[in-house]
Amino acid sequence: MQPQDSSILSLLMAYLFLLLLLNQQTGVQAQGLIPDNFDGFVYGKKSGFNPETVMIEAFFDPVCPDTRDSWAPLKQALKFYGPRVSLIVHPFALPYHDNAFVSSRALHIVNDLNSSATYTLLEMFFENQEKFYNINTSNLTRTAIVNYIIDFATQAVGRTYYSAVKSGFSNRQSDLKTRASFKYGCSRGVLGTPQFFVNGFPAPDVGSAIDYDLWRKIIDPLIGF
Ligand SMILES: *[C@@H]1O[C@H](CO)[C@@H](O)[C@H](O)[C@H]1NC(C)=O
Ligand SMILES: *[C@@H]1O[C@H](CO)[C@@H](O)[C@H](O)[C@H]1NC(C)=O
Ligand SMILES: *[C@@H]1O[C@H](CO)[C@@H](O)[C@H](O)[C@H]1NC(C)=O
Repeated sequence: MQPQDSSILSLLMAYLFLLLLLNQQTGVQAQGLIPDNFDGFVYGKKSGFNPETVMIEAFFDPVCPDTRDSWAPLKQALKFYGPRVSLIVHPFALPYHDNAFVSSRALHIVNDLNSSATYTLLEMFFENQEKFYNINTSNLTRTAIVNYIIDFATQAVGRTYYSAVKSGFSNRQSDLKTRASFKYGCSRGVLGTPQFFVNGFPAPDVGSAIDYDLWRKIIDPLIGF
């Protein structure tokens, strides 16, 4: 072995070692990022969820007015299609909405307590959205907002769950789940809300909420109507 060869060999060894190290690190990161189950909240009966049907994924910020405005026409379309179409809502907390993360977290907490109440809470956020706008909460402390949301979310699951909802906000799991939702949206290239995917493909961006007629135009051909 010539001296030159051995230095190339040691360089190669060092390179391989570095690769191995990097690989291990990314492996650990991926593990930390993958949640226990698929992100989001299934609409309607969980047993009725069928990946063989047309699947809509919606990225919703509970305190975003455009998200709120998109819900009624989507709900109407879901009612029309019945079991032919499934929906999963992923909370996506926009950073410029002060109360987006805490309200998304409330959805995860309630969903873990009783998944039948998740959409009740989501609709409550839509109906009372002004209360959570930046301008209306600018004088409130973080603690005051969280306490308000604990009371608010408790109304969706029922009084007996008050302490469970409260402890949900000091439980790291609900924080991590809300982060996972956000990261999942980022990984899908979500830039704003509402954003929709149909069978995994982005729904046409029409610059405003998709209305009922447009939902029909998108989905009718997929199920042969
Ligand atoms: C969950 O919520 C549904 C709908 O509000 C309600 O009918 C049901 O009794 C709740 N289940 C529990 C265990 O609280
Ligand atoms: C929230 O702020 C808006 C102005 O942005 C105001 O019109 C509305 O009455 C406020 N609502 C509540 C519940 O404070
Ligand atoms: C916030 O506090 C300031 C000063 O006390 C007051 O002028 C303002 O109206 C308050 N804003 C809201 C939204 O309550």
